[in-house]
Amino acid sequence: MQPLEEIDIRDWSGSVLPEMRAKAADALESGRVLFFPRLGFAMDEDERRFLSAALSSGDRKNITLNPDTGSSHGSDLDGEDKRRLEAILQRFAASATELIWMLIPAYAGNLERARTTFRPVEIAGRDYSPKKDDRLLHVDAFPSRPTGGRRILRLFTNINPDGKSRVWRVGENFQDFATAFLPKLRRQYPLEALTLSLLGITKGRRSPYDQLMLQLHDRGKLDAGYQQRAPQSEIAFPPNSTWICYTDQVLHAALSGQFALEQTFHLDVAHMVDAYRSPIKILERLTKTRLA
Ligand SMILES: [Fe+2]
Repeated sequence: MQPLEEIDIRDWSGSVLPEMRAKAADALESGRVLFFPRLGFAMDEDERRFLSAALSSGDRKNITLNPDTGSSHGSDLDGEDKRRLEAILQRFAASATELIWMLIPAYAGNLERARTTFRPVEIAGRDYSPKKDDRLLHVDAFPSRPTGGRRILRLFTNINPDGKSRVWRVGENFQDFATAFLPKLRRQYPLEALTLSLLGITKGRRSPYDQLMLQLHDRGKLDAGYQQRAPQSEIAFPPNSTWICYTDQVLHAALSGQFALEQTFHLDVAHMVDAYRSPIKILERLTKTRLA
């Protein structure tokens, strides 16, 4: 499987040919990365001063915009500067939404806009514990935020001002990965999900699906042999390019890069063009169990 599907558009909104829409939906849902080599995000002279690693506070990697409140955390900015950075993130979120609606009209109205992040810190050369190290191949799954099978769709734009690419590695298809790891995974203990939720460790109940996805995330990262030997290809996303993928399905590792914007969306499996290809349906077929 080719990891990338390249689409040469330069605008975040407008119209695209029906063939391109069909191609975009098919590539995304089959676990490929949609790549827009010439789709950058415009920032004016005054906004470009925010391209500084010093912006993030302490050891935070990201500055995050909460879609419900419109306010951000993770920077030391305040007053007018904070408001201006939030305006950039809002504009990016709106562009990202328009792009996906244009490409996959079937998602329009059903996509839930989640957090928007600004990533001003260089990825390479930092220290992380293996489970937190996103330079290792993984699928996204978050301990405190169960999805119950809902999809995690993410859009990234490289806004590096110094010509530096953002470098990823993309791995094998989800079903092969899951098939290799499933026999090693532990199932939930009785009352485990309820206890985690009552203790406030998870926002809502962790479903059996979330339990499996978390373990796939952790066990995959902790398996040094897998990291070395698994089929994978390296991809450099240059400045002023954009890419979109289902990060709960595409095995990905972010190796290096500095200054990117990212928008996360969630989508109910029922609103996919072909739900059969979602991780929850794949895992349910492999385990012969209902998982959420
Ligand atoms: Fe990730």
